Order: sequence, then C-alpha cells, then structure tokens
Amino acid sequence: MKKILFAASEGNPYIKTGGLADVVGALPKYLDKEKFDVRVFLPKYLCISESYKQNMKYVTEIYAHMPRGSEYIGIYETKVEGIPYYFIDNEHYFAGDNPYNQIFEDVNKFAFYCRAVLASLPEIGFCPDIIHCHDWQTSLIPVFLDAFYRDNHFYRKTKTVLTIHNQKFQGRWRIDDIENCRDLPANYRYKDMEAYGETNFLKAGILHADRVNAVSENYAIEIQGQEGGEGLDGVMREVSEKLSGIINGIDVEEYNPRKDKKLTAHFSIKSLAKKQKNKEVLQETLGLKKDSSTMLIGIVSRMTEQKGFELLTSIMDEMMNTLNVQIAVLGTGEDRFQDFFQHYDWKYPDRVSATIGYSEEIAHMIYGGADVFLMPSQFEPCGLSQLISMRYGTIPIVRETGGLKDTVEAYNEIWHTGNGFSFSNYDAGELLMIIRYAYDIFQNHPKDWKEIMKRCMNMDHSWKNSAKKYENLYLELLSAKG
Ligand code: ADP
Ligand code: GLC
Repeated sequence: MKKILFAASEGNPYIKTGGLADVVGALPKYLDKEKFDVRVFLPKYLCISESYKQNMKYVTEIYAHMPRGSEYIGIYETKVEGIPYYFIDNEHYFAGDNPYNQIFEDVNKFAFYCRAVLASLPEIGFCPDIIHCHDWQTSLIPVFLDAFYRDNHFYRKTKTVLTIHNQKFQGRWRIDDIENCRDLPANYRYKDMEAYGETNFLKAGILHADRVNAVSENYAIEIQGQEGGEGLDGVMREVSEKLSGIINGIDVEEYNPRKDKKLTAHFSIKSLAKKQKNKEVLQETLGLKKDSSTMLIGIVSRMTEQKGFELLTSIMDEMMNTLNVQIAVLGTGEDRFQDFFQHYDWKYPDRVSATIGYSEEIAHMIYGGADVFLMPSQFEPCGLSQLISMRYGTIPIVRETGGLKDTVEAYNEIWHTGNGFSFSNYDAGELLMIIRYAYDIFQNHPKDWKEIMKRCMNMDHSWKNSAKKYENLYLELLSAKG
C-alpha cells in the first residue's frame, strides 16, 4: 500500500474558490483504494462553515520552532467517503472571511502552512511515500523538505509531486519580508526561490519537486512557451523531463443530470426534452422572460481577466440587438467585470441576469438549464466548467486555449462531429462570429443541435482515466532510482 498525502489550500466540500477545490475533493476518491492510502491536508480556515467544523475531531497540538518563535499547530481530523482529512489550525494565520487575503499576508501564511504540514505528519504517524502538492500555496513543501528534513529518518523516502493548476499565481513577494522563510539557507532564498528580484514559491516548488504536472496536456506545452509561461517558461523548459500534463476529470456523482437534487427536472440522453423544464425554472428564478425559443447563454465563473470577459464588452450590445439570446451569469471577482454584467442586467432586465456571488444552487441550475455555456478564456489551464456543462447537455462555446482545446472539439457540420463551438484568436469579432454560428445551429438546425447535445453527454469526463494516469505517475516515481 502506497501512502499519498494531498496538501492543498482548498478542497471540496470544505472550502472552494475555484476548480482546485473540485480536483482536491474528487481525485483522492478515484485512486485505487487497494493500492493507495490517500489522505488530505487543508488549512482550518475560520471561514469554513460551522456545520463542517462541528464534525472535525481534535487530534493533537504541537508547537513547532519557526522564525517567529514557537508556533501553535492544532491538528483536526474528519473523514469524507472514507478518506481521512486533516486540518491545520492556527487562527493567527487562517482568520478572515476568505481563504486568500492580501498577497503579503498569504505568502507568509502558506509558508507557515507548508511547514506545519511537514511538522504534523510524524505526529499523526502518517509517513507518506509521496506528498502531492497543488499550486504555489503548497509549493514550498518540497523546498522545506529538502532544506530541513533530508537527514530526518521519517522523511528519508518521501517524494514529491507538484500539480500546477494555474501558473499565473506564483506566490511572489519581497524576499526579506517573508518571515516564515527567513531561516532557509541563502542558496534557497536567493537562488531557487528567486525570480525577477522577488521570492517565487512556484518556481522553488517546480525546481525541488520530483515530478511536476499541469492540469492538461496542452497547458503543459503552453507553460513552456513565452506566451503561457508567465515568466517561468525558461524554468519549465529546464525541467521538461519531469513535466507532464494530466487532464482533470469531474465528480460525475456531484454533477449528474439524472440525480442532481438542485435541478427541478432530472434528465438523461434519452429524455433530453425534460431539460426544457430546467430552462424555464432558471428563467423564472432569475427574473428572465420565460421564452423557450431564446438561446440561453450560461456563465459560471470567477470574474478575472483570465476568463476573457473583456471580449464580451465590445460585442454585448450588438449581440443583444441582433440575436434572440438571454444571458445568465453567476460569478464574483473584479469590480470591472461585475459592474459590466450588472450594467447589462439593468439595461436588459428580462434578458440578462447577473448574480454576483457564490452559489452552488444557482451554478447547478445554470449548468442544467442553459442552452450554451460561454468560456472565452484568455488562458485556461484545464477548465472544469466546460466539462460540467457538457455533462448536462449544455453546449460549450470556448476559446481554443489550454484544457479547453483538449476537451472541446469544434462542431463540424459536414462530418457531424464535435461537441461544442470554438474560436482561435483572443478577438471580440471572432467571439461574436462563433456565437452567431452557434445561434444559427440552435435556431435553424434543431436536430443537429440535439446531436451535439448528445455527443456532449456521451463523453466520459469522469476521473477514471486521469486517476489512472496519476496512479502511474506515482508508481513510476516510486520505482525511479535516486
Ligand atoms: P477556475 O478554477 O479557474 O475558477 P474551473 O472551470 O476549473 O475554473 O472551475 C471553476 C469551478 O468553480 C467550477 O466548479 C464552477 O462551477 C465553480 N464556480 C466558479 N464560480 C462560481 C460561483 N460564483 N458560484 C458557484 N460556483 C462557482
Ligand atoms: C485552476 C485553473 C482551471 C483548472 C483548475 C483546476 O483554477 O484556472 O483552468 O481547471 O485550476 O485544475
């Protein structure tokens, strides 16, 4: 039995701001239980809902020596579908109403977290063969492991995997201001952890992890290039031998049109007509005009530059004026995008609805009730929303980037193939053109539309295949020499 420890900054169902939580919440469940003993570590944020905290059992507490002095680390435990979850408690670091705050606080907080994970494992007696880290927040685990624990008997065989979910976020800050890194030897602080004059947690993790993978094959290639590398393309090329791409899956139990409790009407590929009822309920709930002939465009997203909504700003009026479409948006993030959608909600009250905030309920209703799902991302490491929407027969319109390119095959009206609509350049005109094309198929070729819906729903986006790839990655790493 191989022991795998997941260390992350968010994970379903406890704490989620985006797809990272989906992956951390789902992948452990899909790894072969006969071969792998998987456990998950998360911070015990103050903002985790009380209902979850009530079920966490106090395990123990330790005081670890860190640059600020002796630091309290509380360890709590619970189980999700048989998987043990451990939570690191320290209210000094994990307060606040969001897992992430100001970057200058976050770098110190996650440096603490990485140290706390390593300090806790001997206490709970779980000696991992592999620590699987996710994104910059846990990137320092391989670094601290190399700097402080290599002579430690407990960790003598422990290897590390780092999964990059988003290379844009790197944990950058002024080197000398990060208290919890102060005792790292100079060659770590000023060489491995340094990029462009700042500390860069992700870079350090990439250099020190035994294996690195990105969340789609295409993204693994993109981050080695200047455009997608976010300044680290040189580093990525340097480590290309230990770099791979593994596409994410989705939790097909959570997102299941046949059983989803958040949907009014359950449906399957054999009863597609029932999806119409969900569209009606969505329109009613969001105050949109009840109209079955409109093409209802859904968006569920973090509202950041990455997601490409900037492209919509210059075509929104033209689209609204020339096509019978409605838009249902759910998201939260930067003011400029929130304001943009709210403005159109005001301008076209019965055709545009902008819900600013986070809601699982409305997210499921949009996935289950919209006709198309829009993701014009500037870049997209994997993207789960397009996979989720396809499972509900909601046809994605995406830009051909990252994982969107790997998972959405453009509709071909001659060969009757494809499961969505895509455009290539980050260009508003191209986006409008593809929306018009999708609109034409939706309005004038309903039979073809239905076939695309069916192809979407027939796809297997479960974790089955990708979990196998992670298993192979772990086994290959453990059998590697050195
Ligand atoms: P990213 O991780 O870059 O945000 P993904 O497509 O990988 O993008 O995953 C986004 C996940 O977060 C999906 O599960 C999506 O449904 C969910 N999500 C994003 N915004 C919201 C929101 N405002 N309310 C509910 N769920 C959301
Ligand atoms: C990141 C990426 C997204 C990916 C998710 C899960 O948040 O932006 O594309 O799907 O992580 O890996």
